[in-house]
Amino acid sequence: MSQPLTIAFTKGRLEKPTVELFEKVGYDMTFLSEKNRQLILNSPDGSLRILLVKAADVTTYVRKGVADLGVVGSDVLSENPYGYYDMLDLNIGVCKFSVASTKEFDPINHQRKRIASKYPTVASDYFKEKNEDVEIIQIQGSVELAPILDLADAIVDIVETGTTLKENGLFILDDICRVSAHLIVNKSALKHHSAVMTLINDLEIVIEKGVEI
Ligand code: PRP
Repeated sequence: MSQPLTIAFTKGRLEKPTVELFEKVGYDMTFLSEKNRQLILNSPDGSLRILLVKAADVTTYVRKGVADLGVVGSDVLSENPYGYYDMLDLNIGVCKFSVASTKEFDPINHQRKRIASKYPTVASDYFKEKNEDVEIIQIQGSVELAPILDLADAIVDIVETGTTLKENGLFILDDICRVSAHLIVNKSALKHHSAVMTLINDLEIVIEKGVEI
């Protein structure tokens, strides 16, 4: 029997829409709904092996060839752009990168702005493009706290529903770009694993049909 196709899924928010997308493609994913705290799940027919990993680790598993494919947000890919092929925008987990701050913040002041973000590359590219020299303060989460507690003047972060900003009294100053989940592939898996191409083609068909996930 041929080797299973190994795919790293992002644990958490993206997990459900990813499973639903694969079901739409025709895979029976019930073996995933029966999991407890398992992190490696094999389909009963032996065709798929799913690894459940943290978003920031998906590119590492794919780059190193432990996973043939990965499903991960383009936010993560923006910070880790090397060592895999970015094959497909899956059109799930859609949100955006925005710049936000408190209503007291005046973006036209002449001080060197302090920008807190989990995404230093995205933040620094955005301000470079605007010819603004800013200080980037990298933090790992709950980024909305930074301008409230004067750790930073503004943040660059993901906005999905906008609820976190609203509930913390922050406002969008500018939108940077769309973010969504992408399918990435290990460079050698693309050449050697025919099941990879089949899956990519099947996903493309489902996405082009605009099936609501
Ligand atoms: C993300 C992001 C925002 C929030 C936006 O955080 O960093 O805080 O979601 O979502 P919303 O617009 O729907 O409110 P996440 O939940 O991943 O946790 P984190 O703060 O630990 O990064």
